[in-house]
Amino acid sequence: MSNKRIEVEITNLLKTINEKEISACATKISELHGAIHSKKGAGSDFLGWLDLPSNIKPAFLDEVETLAAKIRKDADVFLCIGIGGSYLGAKAVNTALNDFFGDFYDKSERKAPVIVFAGQNLSSDYLNSLFKFLTGKSVYVNVISKSGTTTEPAIAFRIIKKFMEEKYGAEAKNRIIATTDRVKGALKKLSDAEGYKTFVIPDDVGGRFSVLTPVGLLPIAVAGHDIKKLVEGAKSFEEYTGNGDLMKNPAYLYAACRYVLYKKGYFIELLSNFEPALHYVSEWWKQLYGESEGKNKKGIFPASVDFTTDLHSMGQYIQDGERKIFETFLTLGSVSKFAIPTDPQNLDGLNFLAGDYLSHANKMAYEGTRLAHLEGGVPNMSIHIPELNEYYLGQLIFFFEKAVAMSGYLIEVNPFDQPGVESYKKNMFALMKKPGFESETERLNGVLKAMKIFKV
Ligand code: PA5
Repeated sequence: MSNKRIEVEITNLLKTINEKEISACATKISELHGAIHSKKGAGSDFLGWLDLPSNIKPAFLDEVETLAAKIRKDADVFLCIGIGGSYLGAKAVNTALNDFFGDFYDKSERKAPVIVFAGQNLSSDYLNSLFKFLTGKSVYVNVISKSGTTTEPAIAFRIIKKFMEEKYGAEAKNRIIATTDRVKGALKKLSDAEGYKTFVIPDDVGGRFSVLTPVGLLPIAVAGHDIKKLVEGAKSFEEYTGNGDLMKNPAYLYAACRYVLYKKGYFIELLSNFEPALHYVSEWWKQLYGESEGKNKKGIFPASVDFTTDLHSMGQYIQDGERKIFETFLTLGSVSKFAIPTDPQNLDGLNFLAGDYLSHANKMAYEGTRLAHLEGGVPNMSIHIPELNEYYLGQLIFFFEKAVAMSGYLIEVNPFDQPGVESYKKNMFALMKKPGFESETERLNGVLKAMKIFKV
């Protein structure tokens, strides 16, 4: 489709790490590339994302688009229920591509239903507001859970199912779509019993790698975005990152640089953008990297900031606080134009900018920031995205997935599991007295009782 592509620029790292240190990773990376592609490394049961883009059948995308078109016609609101990987991918792509104020337009002017989310928290205030908003609107629901047993979406769906049945009676089942495992889990059982339309999340694709499955594709298509271009972009990067040479593979160059930085004590990575549309791309990235790498007491802590907004909140710390941070900027090559006007009085002294595009000021803010941070001791690199559309988002998604697989292997963790997520769940179930957790309930009550409450 295009010669342009995502690029990784490491100019501003080269004072902190040198080319020799990077190329010293080449042999290891080439070996680990072999392990990834021969599916012989840790967690290799969950490598379905690796060739997912090229395995997606056009007929499947047609099916998703046909259903999305019906929902777009019939629904005022499309309510997606899910958490973690069953939420963040669609949220990231839709937020990146949606009109910022699209949801505030009258129905007749909107090109898609309002897409809202539930099951990504346990807040009753959130649900009470949601139900107020849903009143009098035509609602379709997509409940998304790979395991089909995750507590937050399961509770939300129990509540929303009741709401839909009270609102639509027998018709409710035609407005509920379940995206879940092929055979396993309570949601699959429930969907079969109720007769919901279901989409399958492949067994070998973990939640945080699932944006290019129906988990992400349906909500993205309902929002009116081109899922074929998204997949096409991902496919181009499946091909482009299919080699084990870190100097020819931007995903591996990124992974290698992170690894060398980590070994030198830089254990916090800030993903920084200058476009608010990218906010949820960073949220998605944080989950992908945090859950994939943070285990066995290892891993880079992924954090994110939205500039220039956060230059006025976090900027001081980044410039001048504790030096353990490196930064990865997400930049956009092409954005819409907005000219800065002349003001005859020039009281703000900004006439020197008159006639310039705002994007120029934003670009200079990026250039100024990356130099300032470098001089302040924050090595940084940039991931250049040619423009914000489905195709390049597809490339970016695949780029980050491929890079985190390599990053995880470099620090010798399994990037495809998330055992740590279970601990809070176990405690929560025990404290809520879930049957089967009796001994844990007793233990936790003992721990709580022995604690000296200290508050002021
Ligand atoms: O990446 C993961 O596997 C997790 O973050 C899951 O996506 C998240 O816990 C939701 O799980 P499920 O889709 O099974 O409800």
